[in-house]
Amino acid sequence: MKLERVENYNEMSQKTAEAIYDKIVNSDRVVLGLATGSTPEKMYEILAEMLNENSVDLSHVYTVNLDEYVGLASDHPQSYHHYMKNIFFDHVSIPPENTFIPDGAATDLDAEVKRYDRMLEEIGGVDLQLLGIGRNGHIAFNEPGTAFDSRTHVVDLAETTIKDNARFFNTIEEVPTRAISMGLDTIMDAKSILLIASGEGKAAAIDGMINGEESEDMPATVLQRHDDVTVLADEAAIGKL
Ligand code: F6R
Repeated sequence: MKLERVENYNEMSQKTAEAIYDKIVNSDRVVLGLATGSTPEKMYEILAEMLNENSVDLSHVYTVNLDEYVGLASDHPQSYHHYMKNIFFDHVSIPPENTFIPDGAATDLDAEVKRYDRMLEEIGGVDLQLLGIGRNGHIAFNEPGTAFDSRTHVVDLAETTIKDNARFFNTIEEVPTRAISMGLDTIMDAKSILLIASGEGKAAAIDGMINGEESEDMPATVLQRHDDVTVLADEAAIGKL
């Protein structure tokens, strides 16, 4: 794992946007794996600005998102469909038919996870996967205890994740308790991975991911097995190293 230290959230956002921008403009066809949450918000803003300022053609860009809450319609303000549209897709010209997010409102969730894995195969795999990390070491919604060989699946969210994400909802009871998530093995298929983290709340998870023993109790440690992972983290998030 390559660790790149930046000063703060703004620098992390800028550097991440630049890395994704470079990948887009230097590829004839590119599949980007995208994450949601607070960490990449500013990065999406900067990336959209860079793409628009330079009138970059995006017809060769495909995007696949990591996860979606179960039970939220795509137009629910807290769904990841809505997040992506609001923060990124509405501001750039990626063809909508090139963008993929698991359908958390699907009536047959088993069929939906299989469909998503098939789509990932058909699209030819992810070239660059963006990841955040949970305080408990989750990546996507693969909570502690998730098998390293998991493919896209339905997960029960950990209590800490429900509490962490309650800030986006009116009450904690409104936070969905399940999600569809790419599995750890699905994520490991990406050709390269860029994990971003900011703030001291992530310091223990970053330390565990890099220095801890490989363990399903700390899902992010699976990344120690991947040969092209860059961790872009600010001073606060790498405080413990
Ligand atoms: C989101 C995702 C999650 C988040 C993680 C950190 O698509 O897959 O793993 O990256 O929960 O969330 P934030 O950035 O809100 O701290």
